[in-house]
Amino acid sequence: MAVLGLVAAACYGVDRRLHDEIARPAAERGWRLAITLTPTAERWLRESGEFDRLAALTDLPVRSQSRLPGQARPHPDPSAFLFVPASASSTAKLALGIADNQALTVLCEALGNPRVHVSVCPQLSPEQLRHPAWPGHLATLRGAGAVVTPVSPDQPWTSVLDALPVTGTDRP
Ligand SMILES: Cc1cc2nc3c(=O)[nH]c(=O)nc-3n(C[C@H](O)[C@H](O)[C@H](O)COP(=O)(O)O)c2cc1C
Repeated sequence: MAVLGLVAAACYGVDRRLHDEIARPAAERGWRLAITLTPTAERWLRESGEFDRLAALTDLPVRSQSRLPGQARPHPDPSAFLFVPASASSTAKLALGIADNQALTVLCEALGNPRVHVSVCPQLSPEQLRHPAWPGHLATLRGAGAVVTPVSPDQPWTSVLDALPVTGTDRP
């Protein structure tokens, strides 16, 4: 069963929609889920009660913290990463290589690796989209081979699973 590195940031709706619109459909497509949340996303999901539902979809621990030195790596290497929803802040940090939490650490290590597919799905407000550095961040990510697919609070997120190169059962 192929491993999907599912990463989520603190965007509008993540505390209600991540399980039903992304994680469960991905598991149903055969992916073994290695889920990493930003610290803020984890706080939101715990507060909404969705964290435990998410954790029940996978045999791997849902992470937001780094391991201690000497601890085994809790996740195997994913064959693909899906960052959804990706906040303006975390997308900018990814483009700049700022790995200041576990979610960004796994994404920064995967970006630029030709053997690992990376899909990034930013959800930005019109105000966030106007930031002058944003086009450069998108160009950096696309130049590194990432597939960038914006998502919206108004549309179901599930369609971004179609942008993954394989389904979970295609590769061991
Ligand atoms: C209710 C609420 C909804 C938010 N929705 C978004 C959003 O959809 N997109 C976004 O980029 N930031 C959004 N933000 C701002 C982010 O949560 C904020 O920038 C945060 O620092 C992102 O942290 P993270 O990327 O580490 O998860 C929202 C904040 C709040 C309080």
